[in-house]
Amino acid sequence: MGPPERGGYPRSGPRASRALADVESLRQQSPVDWRESIRKRIKAGRARQALWVRAIDVVRLLPSGEGRALLWTRLVHGGEVHQTTPFTTEERYPDLFDLSATLAPGAARILSFGCSTGEELEAIRRRFPKAEIVGAEINPRSRRIAARRVNGDAGTTVVSPKEIQGSFNLIFALAVLQRKPHSIEELGLDDISSHYPFALFDATVTEFSSRLRKRGLLCVINAQYRVEDSSVAKLLQPIAASPAMTAPLFGPDGKRMCQAIAKTFFRKRS
Ligand SMILES: C[S@@+](CC[C@H](N)C(=O)[O-])C[C@H]1O[C@@H](n2cnc3c(N)ncnc32)[C@H](O)[C@@H]1O
Repeated sequence: MGPPERGGYPRSGPRASRALADVESLRQQSPVDWRESIRKRIKAGRARQALWVRAIDVVRLLPSGEGRALLWTRLVHGGEVHQTTPFTTEERYPDLFDLSATLAPGAARILSFGCSTGEELEAIRRRFPKAEIVGAEINPRSRRIAARRVNGDAGTTVVSPKEIQGSFNLIFALAVLQRKPHSIEELGLDDISSHYPFALFDATVTEFSSRLRKRGLLCVINAQYRVEDSSVAKLLQPIAASPAMTAPLFGPDGKRMCQAIAKTFFRKRS
């Protein structure tokens, strides 16, 4: 046996030739090819949920306050988090908010589940000037920002999901009951059961149903599973006039559904 090989590279034999060929092919690549090849490796690693890709994601999130809050939320509340990103905008779903005001004009108590930084609470307030509004948010940083935003509105409170109390005439879960839909599509995943389990969605919709008052209204959009497939589907009547969900949908087994239709508004039957 010869001396140990420095740097872990074999000095001779077929492995050495392959390693040399690898190095030579990388040397010949332009910086653009390098970036593309790294991008492909990261994508493949992400599809396998490889540890090294998760580590890269953690490092990317560390420098910003929003990133650190996201990591903290995942670490502390991992099993309860639906969509992780806090993305939201002012008046994100004007048609949906307007329709909810038509369907539940006298709603006295409204829950916005996953209200993020509170823009949604303001949009709801514009349609329901007299209602008591509760925003529930699991990410502590988003919760603080939302609470500051609605500070001057005595009828709106912002709480963690564990602090939700009482029943509601109207519940919104908008872009919450899903997880990273853009990554799922980019990776072309056809089974999301290990990524975002149906059981978490189902337990949450079941809780919504138990918190809805008689004839109360549930509004769900941008979800990966269907309320129609939940354990409480029988208690929730889909509203025919409600817009259909356009996001890619998955069945209770986590498998991608083809041409499935899901409603966005449901009325509690009794
Ligand atoms: C993409 S944002 C949607 C914000 C807003 N509803 C909208 O549609 O613009 C999803 C939000 O849901 C929150 N969220 C995820 N799981 C939650 C849970 N179990 N309880 C409360 N909020 C949750 C996230 O922290 C995030 O702020």
